[in-house]
Amino acid sequence: MSDASEMKRLAGEKAAEYVEDGMVVGLGTGSTVFFTILKLGERVREGLNIVGIPTSKATEKLALEQGISLGNLAEHPRIDITIDGADEVDPELNLIKGMGGALLREKVVASVSEKMIIVVDDSKIVETLGTKSALPVEVVPFALSSCIAELEKLCDEVMTRKTDGQIYVTDNGSNIVDCLFSGIPDPEKLENILSRMPGAIENGLFLGLATLAIVGTPEGVKVYQKPI
Ligand code: 5RP
Repeated sequence: MSDASEMKRLAGEKAAEYVEDGMVVGLGTGSTVFFTILKLGERVREGLNIVGIPTSKATEKLALEQGISLGNLAEHPRIDITIDGADEVDPELNLIKGMGGALLREKVVASVSEKMIIVVDDSKIVETLGTKSALPVEVVPFALSSCIAELEKLCDEVMTRKTDGQIYVTDNGSNIVDCLFSGIPDPEKLENILSRMPGAIENGLFLGLATLAIVGTPEGVKVYQKPI
């Protein structure tokens, strides 16, 4: 296992300790929360009783393979705890998410969660959002070109996300535009602008949602509450 993967494992497994019997658990998406889901699967096989709410088809498949019972938001409108990865974490625990493509469902799940634990390796910690990661914006296909034109006015560079040369399609049937900034000094202002952009159905700014960050570092796991 590479150093980065080992740090992800440390953080991901630690987060599983915060899950208690009877909880409804939001299950994030990505290579760090992967380790949380494996650990939760182990605990379920030892008798832990939880209901998971998956944030992507990939997480749904993994959780079912691990024997975790799944539900949906209609059955469970409030979630006790969500555990998810991130692409950047700032000192206020504001986040950029969505490089794994699941930002829309992840934000819905986070918004109805009592607690949101973020699991990352220490390369994801930044002073200012938008300095390392692109900011993903999910757009409906009909509005892809008009959203690109608007986003070009806001950031340094925009890239339509592609896989194998084809425009990437999310679990919701929409597309993603990755926006490069040389820092986002006022994330609330940018979020306001993006949430008023016709055809842009979600963006990767997660502001004020995370309550705890578990960070895998070469010295072991560190746990941060606001401020970092
Ligand atoms: C998916 C996400 C992921 O949580 C984020 O990209 C981090 O992924 P990883 O843990 O693989 O680095 O937001 O939409």
